[in-house]
Amino acid sequence: MTLINKRLVLAARPSGLIKNSDFRMEEAKVPDIQDGEFLVKTKYLSLAPVMKFYMLDGAGIEKPLQLGETMRGRGVGEVIDSRHPDFQKGDFVGGKFGWQEYVVSKGTAYDMMYKFDVEGLSPSTALGVLGVTGFTSYFGLYHVGALKENENILVSSAAGGVGSSLGFLSKIKSGKVVGLTSTNEKKKLLTEKLGYDFAINYKIENISEQLDKYFPEGIDVYFDNVGGEILDLALSKLRRYARVVCCGRISTYKDSLKTQEYQLKNWHKVGSNRAKMEGFFIYDFEAQFAEAKKEMIGWIKEGRLKYQEDILQGLEKMPEALNRLFEGKNIGKQLVKVN
Ligand SMILES: NC(=O)c1ccc[n+]([C@@H]2O[C@H](COP(=O)([O-])OP(=O)(O)OC[C@H]3O[C@@H](n4cnc5c(N)ncnc54)[C@H](OP(=O)(O)O)[C@@H]3O)[C@@H](O)[C@H]2O)c1
Repeated sequence: MTLINKRLVLAARPSGLIKNSDFRMEEAKVPDIQDGEFLVKTKYLSLAPVMKFYMLDGAGIEKPLQLGETMRGRGVGEVIDSRHPDFQKGDFVGGKFGWQEYVVSKGTAYDMMYKFDVEGLSPSTALGVLGVTGFTSYFGLYHVGALKENENILVSSAAGGVGSSLGFLSKIKSGKVVGLTSTNEKKKLLTEKLGYDFAINYKIENISEQLDKYFPEGIDVYFDNVGGEILDLALSKLRRYARVVCCGRISTYKDSLKTQEYQLKNWHKVGSNRAKMEGFFIYDFEAQFAEAKKEMIGWIKEGRLKYQEDILQGLEKMPEALNRLFEGKNIGKQLVKVN
């Protein structure tokens, strides 16, 4: 049977919010696989803020994406044909799929294909709570943030992919956790469903006053997903020996790589509080992913860790789904179900 692959290629570098016209849908016959290759049918694709950098041609950690190339991104799916010794028909795999319905892979190191078992949970979790997103929460908080008992934690973009696990992960090991978000709907969700003790709507509330109220002795761990002004304010409220986890900085992911960075005014508070600010790249922890996953599956089964996914349907929804991250529309991990 002839299979037709649909894929979205980069048609234009974005300016402002992402437009459908920044991509072009192309169709082509799925090639017959050769020795050493396998064919995967995509089930879910993941969305991440860093993708805007791919479109701008400068993620730093990846090779530049050229106009006309398949948009880069991670996915999960099922192997439907194989002439590769390590991947069999019926295996569920995750890896660098690109924005397309079928993927032919040789299983190279670049493709980062791996088999997974989500133990009865949806395969989507391999891109969310049991994938890179969840591991970012786990290693960011426990290893980089070095969370200790009875500490007080502040999280920005608390209702996002990484943030939506951090309420639960904080409570599993420590004390009070407060989340920042942009709407009252998400604020309610944080305290009612996502394990946060308190939440702040940073668009309409006085953040400084709210931080003084919730952190009278200062913040022990600030998990920073947004950078910019919110990071600056959090620095001004650090407690002695605090840790700032520099995970992401979506507020500064502007339209051009040349846009000037926000200049922090309160960085001196790191020194005066003998605090630490530490960045990390989640793949530095790759050797420990399996161990973290095992622990997290245990917590999910015990009901101590819940997860939130925001799923659109259809490959053509990928541009809209990516935009949702920058518009603050996603609630939990943003995904697209492709097949
Ligand atoms: N270090 C690593 O290895 C690593 C790995 C994975 C991800 N990351 C980073 O971790 C962060 C979270 O990733 P994610 O995939 O879970 O994304 P995410 O938090 O779901 O990102 C989307 C959310 O960001 C918030 N946002 C958007 N524009 C903003 C702005 N101008 N100012 C403040 N907040 C804004 C919105 O939440 P509100 O509406 O609540 O503001 C939005 O819903 C990202 O910055 C990402 O780049 C780092």
